Parts: sequence; C-alpha cells; structure tokens
Amino acid sequence: MKHLSILGSTGSIGTQTLDIVNNSPKEFKITGLTANKNIELLKKQIIEFKPEAVAVMDKKSADLLKEKIDIDVYSGIDGIIKIAKLNNSDTVVNALVGSIGVLPTIEAIKNKKNIALANKETLVTAGSIVMNEIKKNNVELMPIDSEHSAIFQCLNGERIEDVSKITITASGGPFRDYDLKKLEFQCLNGERIEDVSKITITASGGPFRDYDLKKLEKVTVKDALNHPTWKMGNKITIDSATLMNKGFEVIETHWLYGIDYEKIKVVVHPQSIIHSLVEFKDTSVIAQLGFPNMKIPIQYALSHPKRFISNSKQLDLMEIKNLTFEKPDFAGFPCLKYAYDSGKIGGTMPAVLNAANEIAVYAFLENKIRFLDIPKIIKKMINGHRTIKNPDLKQILDVDKKIKEETKKIIENKDY
Ligand SMILES: NC(=O)c1ccc[n+]([C@@H]2O[C@H](COP(=O)([O-])OP(=O)(O)OC[C@H]3O[C@@H](n4cnc5c(N)ncnc54)[C@H](OP(=O)(O)O)[C@@H]3O)[C@@H](O)[C@H]2O)c1
Repeated sequence: MKHLSILGSTGSIGTQTLDIVNNSPKEFKITGLTANKNIELLKKQIIEFKPEAVAVMDKKSADLLKEKIDIDVYSGIDGIIKIAKLNNSDTVVNALVGSIGVLPTIEAIKNKKNIALANKETLVTAGSIVMNEIKKNNVELMPIDSEHSAIFQCLNGERIEDVSKITITASGGPFRDYDLKKLEFQCLNGERIEDVSKITITASGGPFRDYDLKKLEKVTVKDALNHPTWKMGNKITIDSATLMNKGFEVIETHWLYGIDYEKIKVVVHPQSIIHSLVEFKDTSVIAQLGFPNMKIPIQYALSHPKRFISNSKQLDLMEIKNLTFEKPDFAGFPCLKYAYDSGKIGGTMPAVLNAANEIAVYAFLENKIRFLDIPKIIKKMINGHRTIKNPDLKQILDVDKKIKEETKKIIENKDY
C-alpha cells in the first residue's frame, strides 16, 4: 500500500487523484492534503479520506477550517511543506499550480519521498536543482503529465501479464505478412535513452489552432477557457491556448529524460490520441496512445511499476478513424519559441519565462490584458533579464519573486 500526500487536492489533478484512490482503496491511503482557499471541498475530502493533517495556503481560510474539523491544520507555504514532509507518507503528489510548487517538491525529495509530479512549473523553474536532489536522495520522480507519462511508457519495459489487448495495424495488402512478434516485442521492451534520436510531443493546438493574428486579437477569456480536448484548471487551459504549456513540456522533457533540446520536437495533433512518440537511432518509433483522459497517466504515476485495472474508455481506432498532424505556428503562438529559447539559454532564464507567464496569465484571466499581450509581456521580461548561469535555489527563488513583482508593475503601467 502507498501512503500519499496530495498537494493541491482540491484542483483538477488533485480531485482526479482522489478518484483513483477511491477506486483502489487497498492500494492507497491518504496521509495529507492541501488547498489554497477551497476549504468547503477540502473539508469533504477530510471526512471521506481521513488524512492525519492538512494545510491551507490562505491563513484566514485555514483558521476557518480549524473551527470545523478536529485534525492538524497548517497554513501558508510552511504548512504545505509540512504536509510534503509528513513522516507517514511515502509518496507526494504535487498537483499545485505555479512556482509555489518548487519548495514543497524539493523538501519532499530531501525527506526521501517519491514524487508524482503534475506541477510543471517546478521543473521549468528549478529543473537542474530538482533533478540533482532526485539523484542524491535516490527517490523516484514519476511524471503525471500525459506527454511525459507517454515518453516514460515508450522507454519502459512492460510485462505481458499487464496487456489487455494488442492491436496490429496494416495498410492493407503489402503488409499482410508483417512479422507480428517483432512489433509486440518492441512495445514491451525496456529501452535506453542513449538509443533515442528524437522525442516528439504532441499538442492539441488548443482552441485557437486555426486562428490568424487578426482573430487572436479579439479572443476573450471565455473563448480561451474552452479547450477542445482536455478539461483542466484555468491556468493550464490558458497555457494550452498560448502553446506555453507545450513549451513547458519541452523544458520538462529535457530535465526528465536528460535529452538535448534539438532532439525534442512538437507536432500539433488535434485529436490528442497520440500523447508522445520516441524515435530510436534505427529510426523505429514507439508511441503511446489513448483517449485524452488524465486519470490514465495519474494512475500510472502511482501504480508504477505495476499497472492497475482502469475503468477508462478503451481506445477504439474504428471510432477515431483519422489521426492528423500539423506543424506548430511559431509566429502566431510565440510562447513556444520563447520556451525553447529560454530552455536552451538555461540558468535562471526558464524561471523568468515561468514567472512572467504566471503573472500575465492571471492578469488575462482577470481581464486586465488581452490574449496577445501575454507573449508581449513575457518577451519584454526575457529580453530584460541577465541570466545567472548555474544558479542555486535561493537565486532561482529570488528571480521568481523579482520577475513576478516587475511583471505586475509593467502590467499596471501598460508598459509592454
Ligand atoms: N489539469 C490537468 O489536466 C493537468 C494536466 C497536466 C499537467 N497539469 C499541471 O498540474 C498542475 C495543477 O493543475 P490543475 O489543472 O489541477 O490546477 P487547478 O485545478 O487550478 O488546481 C490547483 C490546486 O492548487 C491549489 N493552489 C492554487 N494556488 C495555490 C497557491 N498559491 N498556493 C497553494 N495552493 C494553491 C488549488 O487550491 P484551491 O482549490 O483552494 O484554489 C488547487 O488545489 C499545474 O501545474 C498544471 O500545469 C494539469
């Protein structure tokens, strides 16, 4: 049985994680939970899952919750870190949104917890430090993001006992005699990162895939929150609309798999069925497929190295019929380019990218700026930053704080 603490249990990933716990009560026990302000939902979760302690970021909300329940309630970032370090948990699910996730992740790792990571801002902001701590403390970092889970699964050895179905594709006549054993073997085989020549991450393209700049100028918050294939929290939904989300995933892929940016590609795939593809040096390609459903990668991050039965809908190729692919539009969606550039520059630059983006996205959600102002603001902050090479954690967190303050200021003064 795994003992889990879920940071951000009231959000999209957090609630789906608790659904998985509910479906496999013999496999998981909840030790700690955290929220920002949503104490009504947190209270329900406390009653249902009986954690030993919880934390609420917002101090007032924490005090209100204390009056209603009879377990330890901590508050602020120190409270969230306490939950990340609880003695009785072995795995921390980080489902927080934003760079607030960095410190709890690092503290959890230092306390020998395995990490199931949804919070992408952690690796974007402090990738080198997090990966060093993972190695130093010899703990496991399992990606929850569907794309990184897909890459992990493409590289991973699998057991035939866990296979529910093998589908063999054929173009028709010429391939009728294809060697089936060979195909099955490659999908089940453990692979080495040294043999990878390219990783392709797929992007749905978001709600504005076909929009030109003129149309993008007029999009509203409501339009941007209307994602075609994934139902997620507000911040990541806007990140998906700008393609910054894909940029973050490129940076995460670099850190998670230790692969050069030149070997990481993005392709737009509107159906969101293929989650990522790994090409090997012999040009063979392994992809991971499934209907877009975050419960599958969340469950796998928690069940690995085992697989648990899932009640998610099975993939039916006859239902899908067509899978299509397009090049990403770097001109209309420059955030993707800024992410590649920042990742390649390294040091504190990805932290700047993330901090400026975080503030700009919340300003857009509050109708303070327009959709196309998001990349403008990020560009200004990136261009104004002198990168610190090989920063320590304090330097990264200082840059995060400073850039957030400066971004708020340029938004207030409309100076972008
Ligand atoms: N949703 C997806 O399908 C998906 C897929 C892949 C990756 N991710 C990544 O997973 C992370 C979580 O995404 P989400 O969509 O689940 O977000 P979400 O629905 O907005 O949930 C965020 C969670 O974090 C808490 N929180 C928000 N701001 C906080 C703060 N300043 N301090 C402490 N806690 C805070 C929220 O508490 P309250 O409820 O009290 O506000 C909530 O529990 C993000 O990094 C996202 O990019 C998400």
